[in-house]
Amino acid sequence: KNIVILISGGGSNMLAIVKASKRENWAANYQAQVAAVISNKTNAKGLALAAQQGIATASLDHKAFASREAFDTALAQRIDSYATPGQPQLVLLAGFMRILTPGFVNHYAGRLVNIHPSLLPAFPGLHTHQRAIDAGCKLAGATVHLVTPELDHGPILAQAVVPILPNDSAETLAARVLSQEHLIYPQAVASLLQVQ
Ligand code: GRF
Repeated sequence: KNIVILISGGGSNMLAIVKASKRENWAANYQAQVAAVISNKTNAKGLALAAQQGIATASLDHKAFASREAFDTALAQRIDSYATPGQPQLVLLAGFMRILTPGFVNHYAGRLVNIHPSLLPAFPGLHTHQRAIDAGCKLAGATVHLVTPELDHGPILAQAVVPILPNDSAETLAARVLSQEHLIYPQAVASLLQVQ
C-alpha cells in the first residue's frame, strides 16, 4: 500500500506521519510506505521537510489551472502516478487548504482522509480556534475523518480533546490542538492500514 500526503504549508502533520511510519516500521508491519508528498503551494515549507525525509515531492500550483475541476484532475493523475499496480492507495490531507471537487472525492472514496482542527461536527470550516473561544467553549480539539463531498463532515475516525484556558488566544489554543493532531493522525492511519 502506498500513502500520498497532500499539504499546503508547514507539513507538521505530514512529518508526524512520516516519522511514525519509520518508527513503527509500517513497511514491514503493514506493507505500507509514504510514497509522495504533494502540495498546491510551490513554496510550502513541508516540501523541504518531506525531501529531508527522503520522500518524493511534487507541487501543482492551483493558480495554473483554468478551473477547480482541471486542478483536481491533474492532482488525481499525479497522485495515481505514485500508485503500485494492484496495491491500494491512501490519500491523506494534512493542512491541505483546498476544497476538493465531488469528482475528486468520489474517485478516492473510502481512502481519502483529513484532519480538521475542531471537534466535528462543531466548527467545520476555517478559524476554528477563534470561533471556539468566542463561543465560550471549555473544550476544543481535532478530528480525523474520511472525506466526503460535504466539507468537514465525513465519518469520524479519531478525535482528541484539549481544554480551552481562560487566557487562551487562537494561537495558544492552536498549538495545544496541533500537538494532539500529531498523535491521533498517525494512530488513525495505522489503524486504517491494519484493516486495509
Ligand atoms: C493546522 O491549522 C492544523 O490544525 C490543520 O492544518 C494546519 C497546518 O497543519 N490540520 P500542518 O502543520 O501543515 O500539518
